[in-house]
Amino acid sequence: METLVIGIAGGTGSGKTTLTRSLKERFGDDISVINYDSYYKSYDTLSFEERRKLNFDQPDAFDTPLMAEHLRSLIGGRPVACPVYSFTEYIRTKDTVTIQPAKVLLAEGLLILQNPELRKMMDIKIFVDADADVRLLRRILRDVKKRGRTLDSVAAQYLATVKPMHDEYVEPSRRYADIVVPGGGRNPVALGLIIGRIQEHLKSS
Ligand code: C5P
Repeated sequence: METLVIGIAGGTGSGKTTLTRSLKERFGDDISVINYDSYYKSYDTLSFEERRKLNFDQPDAFDTPLMAEHLRSLIGGRPVACPVYSFTEYIRTKDTVTIQPAKVLLAEGLLILQNPELRKMMDIKIFVDADADVRLLRRILRDVKKRGRTLDSVAAQYLATVKPMHDEYVEPSRRYADIVVPGGGRNPVALGLIIGRIQEHLKSS
């Protein structure tokens, strides 16, 4: 059967992970998830201090050829060894996680709709939207609680790269979306419509 590939993009803290999680919980093994965040480039030769200063919000920060190769494999029915990226060490770890092919594949990420090669592989393109103040608050809470960052570093990074790159790359990629989901990941009407489309695909398979 054909894999239904759904791209889920949106700014930092927009709720794309919440939407992805809701769909995964609803459909279990019928859905596999691949996250563009796992494909951050590693820059192993740089020191920790140098890595911290990189711009992680522009297209070149990602190992897109590997992401594209893995997407192609999953669509072709082959499992992949997905890299595991450490947001505390700013580096790709030695671990990998196996992603199994499934009838529905969710490809989630900040800039996943920005890249034409990745876009071409998607059947449905979703852009998750939330107000910038809400996104920033979520970002601060997550980065401080889960990514070992200080409030000062989150603020500095937001002003230096996150916000300008959002305006330059993330926001313009909204034009490629088939569906824009306002209200972050908690929009029950939009969720219901997407669930309906997935059920249709599963029934026809
Ligand atoms: O989940 P979310 O879309 O917020 O994840 C992407 C964010 O992760 C980017 O905005 C980028 O600034 C951040 N990032 C980071 N440190 C890294 C890699 C990415 O803060 N080492």
